[in-house]
Amino acid sequence: MRLPQRPVGPRPQGAAPCPLQWNEPLQHLLKDGLISSTTPESISKMPEPAISLSRPRVLSGMRPTGKLHLGNYMGALANWVRLQDQYECYFFIADLHALTTDYADTSNIAPSTLEVALDFLAAGLDPKRCTIFVQSWVEQHYELPLLLGMITPLGWLERVPSYKEMQENLASKDLTTFGFLGYPVLMASDILLYQPDFVPVGQDQQAHVELTREVARRFNQFYKPDGKEVLPEPKVLLTPSPKLPGTDGRKMSKSYGNTILMTDPEPVVRQKLKTMVTDPARIRRTDAGDPDKCPVGDLHKVFSTPETLAKVYEGCRSAGIGCIECKSWVANALVQVLEPIQTRRAGFSEARVMEILEDGSSRARHRAELTMQEVRAAMRLTPAAPAAK
Ligand code: TRP
Ligand code: SF4
Repeated sequence: MRLPQRPVGPRPQGAAPCPLQWNEPLQHLLKDGLISSTTPESISKMPEPAISLSRPRVLSGMRPTGKLHLGNYMGALANWVRLQDQYECYFFIADLHALTTDYADTSNIAPSTLEVALDFLAAGLDPKRCTIFVQSWVEQHYELPLLLGMITPLGWLERVPSYKEMQENLASKDLTTFGFLGYPVLMASDILLYQPDFVPVGQDQQAHVELTREVARRFNQFYKPDGKEVLPEPKVLLTPSPKLPGTDGRKMSKSYGNTILMTDPEPVVRQKLKTMVTDPARIRRTDAGDPDKCPVGDLHKVFSTPETLAKVYEGCRSAGIGCIECKSWVANALVQVLEPIQTRRAGFSEARVMEILEDGSSRARHRAELTMQEVRAAMRLTPAAPAAK
């Protein structure tokens, strides 16, 4: 396959339009084709990627945490799917990042990487329209962190908000390592290797992208071949994510064990909803409740039609409906969202996923190498003899 490529060289700064953000209820998503109807068959019949050299570039990644949940879908993937048509997109599975916390037991990383890749494809990321790759398969992700590590002051790393916080939260793991402290350098490298215009991330990752900009700025100050900027500062593209509670009412998160997975079959979705917490003031069927104080109500706001939502408000506040009925309505909506995702997932064999990842990784390698050549030259590393190249 022909590699999507942009010419190396100075690019107009600040010229890229800001990608549209998605944060509307489900109906709009369906209408807008956000919940895409791409199937493995239609992918293989699609024409070669229409990658235009002028499209602004977008890069984002996700740690391989195992099967992804609705929070991951609504908070990131659904937005990525939308970006792939307008931007030159690189999306990757950050398996090297998993090592920063899971170095003592790495057995889950590879299986999780495959699951996440499947979830990317299930969500509708299309390997003909974007580049999907595995971080550890692209050698440049090992090279740039070493070079950027040379110029990153320790104080910057120690001040990253998640640093102390994660050490405290994951007290069972020894995170007093070089690798864990250097995590933001790894992330800066992931980003800068692709010289992207935009990095779509959630708020929790914003500080890391800010640090990336500072690292880039410092690099550009030290190393200015012919006054040229080698590492353009990417812009954060904040993904506004709807409030998505898990079954216990807290934010949906794998670490709380309160998730609804993208792969959960209908009976599991319905069962999980049955046990979901509701407005605590509604103890008996005859008590009135308030959907604004109920996590099930929050799910309705994201997934239900305006008509259903109106029935929920009316019925809950007047004790006209029971929670069981109310939950079954939200389950219906969830099943409707998940159905096409699960059908798409079932169409990809493991062999096909590996092929997609290999192809994507070779495209990523190619793009990353263009940046590395500029970086090595800018830093005046000893050039190899031409014959050895
Ligand atoms: N740190 C991100 C997370 O934990 C994953 C990630 C790694 C990433 N490298 C990145 C995201 C580069 C955006 C860009 O979710
Ligand atoms: Fe929550 Fe619905 Fe029960 Fe009201 S009726 S408390 S919104 S589950």
